[in-house]
Amino acid sequence: MDFNGMTAAITGAASGIGHATAHAAACRGARIVALDRDAQALERMREQFDADGLALVPFAIDIGDEASVRQTVDAIAQVAPAIDLLVNSAGIVSRGLFETTTVDEWERVLSVNLSGSFFCIQQMMPLLKAGKGRAVVNVASLASKRVSYTGGVAYTAAKAGILGLTRHAAFELAGDGIRVNAVCPGPVLTAMTRNATSEADRRKVAAMVPLGAWLEPHDIAGAILFLGSPAARMITGTSLDIDGGLSLITGSSYEEYRRARQ
Ligand SMILES: NC(=O)c1ccc[n+]([C@@H]2O[C@H](COP(=O)([O-])OP(=O)(O)OC[C@H]3O[C@@H](n4cnc5c(N)ncnc54)[C@H](O)[C@@H]3O)[C@@H](O)[C@H]2O)c1
Repeated sequence: MDFNGMTAAITGAASGIGHATAHAAACRGARIVALDRDAQALERMREQFDADGLALVPFAIDIGDEASVRQTVDAIAQVAPAIDLLVNSAGIVSRGLFETTTVDEWERVLSVNLSGSFFCIQQMMPLLKAGKGRAVVNVASLASKRVSYTGGVAYTAAKAGILGLTRHAAFELAGDGIRVNAVCPGPVLTAMTRNATSEADRRKVAAMVPLGAWLEPHDIAGAILFLGSPAARMITGTSLDIDGGLSLITGSSYEEYRRARQ
């Protein structure tokens, strides 16, 4: 996959899946517009990319705040008037149980994990239309189709919404030649999941994955770049599960299934 001469805007670029995607796209020739609310992490990222000879322009943003997205996209347009690929990876987890989830928690998770992707696609439309790549990839989750293990009800609801957003955007924006797809990662080792799990939890999860391990951020980056590249030029409105086979299991863990047959 060759991204030479292309510009990729990536939300949540300062960590985890967004960071790995930014690095993979930059190594294939893309200039990265790195978007994150963590300005210090963005600055460290810029220094690291500079040292490696990779092109990156950082912008601090709160994607859950429509005004912040609008102002940031105005600033992006000054330095990158055309965006070829938008990756919506920024997200947060919440762990409240159904009955104790507060209105604040519900609204915060929905605004970042669902509305944020809508705001970014909507505000970047002129820049996407000006680009040649014309692709958007939304980072959903296995929780979009099932139930979140690390997050709570708001997380599951928001991630399910991302697939609806993806389908509808794909349908409407097809007329502009813009493709919109989603990836649904299983358990990926990032700051988000490390902070929400214990060592014992992580061993248990690894044992449940048929391919035998947590995913790494670069496992998701590869799929994002495929969907965002010309190789996927006729793929739109779909979602790709990247989960080491986790969604194949029906109840018992993969290890238990094998043990019962030995
Ligand atoms: N890690 C997993 O197991 C997993 C599984 C399925 C889906 N996902 C999804 O993948 C995406 C990336 O998660 P990750 O695991 O890389 O997490 P991460 O915590 O490593 O990275 C998330 C990044 O998003 C940024 N961010 C958070 N809120 C923001 C906001 N309001 N505005 C701008 N930036 C903001 C954070 O600063 C951080 O840099 C998320 O949407 C997450 O829900 C993760």
